[in-house]
Amino acid sequence: MKVSERHMRSYSPMGLLVLRGPKEEYGKGAHWVVGDEHGYAEVILMKDRNAVHSDTFYIEHIVIREQERGKGYGRTLYAKVEEFARNVGTEWMQIDSEPETVGFWKKMDYTELDRVFYKDKTAMVKRVRAPGSP
Ligand SMILES: CC(C)(COP(=O)(O)OP(=O)(O)OC[C@H]1O[C@@H](n2cnc3c(N)ncnc32)[C@H](O)[C@@H]1OP(=O)(O)O)[C@@H](O)C(=O)NCCC(=O)NCCS
Repeated sequence: MKVSERHMRSYSPMGLLVLRGPKEEYGKGAHWVVGDEHGYAEVILMKDRNAVHSDTFYIEHIVIREQERGKGYGRTLYAKVEEFARNVGTEWMQIDSEPETVGFWKKMDYTELDRVFYKDKTAMVKRVRAPGSP
């Protein structure tokens, strides 16, 4: 991937490119596509009314190139996405997992909610910042 200034943001950690999404100014409801050399993620800074908790960052998809799965790249991409989320002011992260990836999210320290938003998917959350901390 050719890296250029337009893929960089002050709030995106080193090695995580913004392929699509707002520039330095954004608000709740903002949507980004971010990625590194092994995969990408589609993410949303949720509007509070759509989220279980206020200040929630939602991962719509995270995908590692098929031939590169199982080598730790999902974990490293996820860690960068979590840092990105913290940098945009997130306190919680939320996902709706396919049944076959619940184990991955558990490894990333997500816990299952007892609420279903999408049939056949498992809603999971993780607190990534203590309340009120900078
Ligand atoms: C899910 C996905 C992103 C994981 O990426 P990956 O590079 O294969 O994962 P990693 O190698 O970094 O694995 C990290 C840890 O999670 C575990 N893990 C990975 N996928 C898992 C799965 N489907 N179920 C259970 N555990 C899983 C690994 O064993 C590893 O554990 P360890 O650190 O204790 O050894 C990747 O498999 C993928 O792109 N899948 C297709 C798209 C998808 O389903 N995305 C998720 C929902 S949007």
